[in-house]
Amino acid sequence: MPNKATVRSPSNIAFIKYWGARDLEHAIPENPSLSMTLKECTSLCTVEHRDGDGAHEVLWRAPDPADGGGFETAPPAFASRVERHLDRLRDWTGCGGRFRVATENTFPAAAGIASSASGFSALTLAVLAALGREASVEEQSELARLSGSGSASRSVLGGYVEWPADGAGERCHARQVAPAEHWDLRDVIAVVESGPKQTSSLDGHRRARTSPYFETRLERLPERYAAVRDAVLARDFARLGPLIEAEAIDLHTIAMTSEPAIFYWQPATLEVLAAVRSMRGDGLEAWSTLDAGANVHVICTPTSEPEVAGRLAGLAAVEKVLRDGVGPGPALEDQHLL
Ligand code: PMV
Repeated sequence: MPNKATVRSPSNIAFIKYWGARDLEHAIPENPSLSMTLKECTSLCTVEHRDGDGAHEVLWRAPDPADGGGFETAPPAFASRVERHLDRLRDWTGCGGRFRVATENTFPAAAGIASSASGFSALTLAVLAALGREASVEEQSELARLSGSGSASRSVLGGYVEWPADGAGERCHARQVAPAEHWDLRDVIAVVESGPKQTSSLDGHRRARTSPYFETRLERLPERYAAVRDAVLARDFARLGPLIEAEAIDLHTIAMTSEPAIFYWQPATLEVLAAVRSMRGDGLEAWSTLDAGANVHVICTPTSEPEVAGRLAGLAAVEKVLRDGVGPGPALEDQHLL
């Protein structure tokens, strides 16, 4: 039986956002969400299962991969979130023992590029693989969701993925709408802030209902959701673009009008949004979306991507540009981190 496994899992970018939970502890969302799984922004996680009692061990490589540092003991806040999830997975599998974990990202963590989605998806799948434990994709998605990072439930699948909000209790999982080959869309990420954000998405979910606009969002969402889903299935970029940009503005309107208010946007964010608008004026196919952070994901077609990336890199407001696109989902790796 294997006792060690390494999984690379991608992040994802939501076209329709998960924001607000009916049951935050189990990450049961108020609304359905739909995302594109990425290819280059990934978390790599090695899990080793060990017999006997004792504490889990959690190592990470410090968040900015450019630092080039080695693995070190993860800081307490991160380690305890990981350990709680390891306990949960141990209960689910009934395996006993303890785990050693090492994890790293290819992109800046906690800056609106869903590092918790890729990280907890990778961790969940690596634990299952280290134990040689078969799980259906629905179970994988549910287990990833129970980490508390709801968007991790979408990262276990590739391509275009939806996460309906109709589950209850423990049962609530994502499913694929279309595989990556269905539509080659790109995500050029304009990083304007690579440090960690001030307010976690968990706090954002917690405060969402305090916004006077939250109910309005929920009322309008089914129509937008159906339109986004149809546009993805029809590969209709002209229809999809305006919908996803409006959706991102909605999310941030809720955040900014929550109590206390959450401002993820920075002046540089607005500069990028304006630049993308003017790119469209010049005929480029590019629309913006943002997660809970200041960085802007510019969703574009393969034809427009090189010019979009070049123009974003030329903006004073942009620290760096990450070029990504739709990807096939997580995979096992032979090279272990431990
Ligand atoms: O999965 P969480 O709890 O990190 O929340 C994700 C929130 C957003 O990234 C803003 C939206 C989404 O659906 O990915």
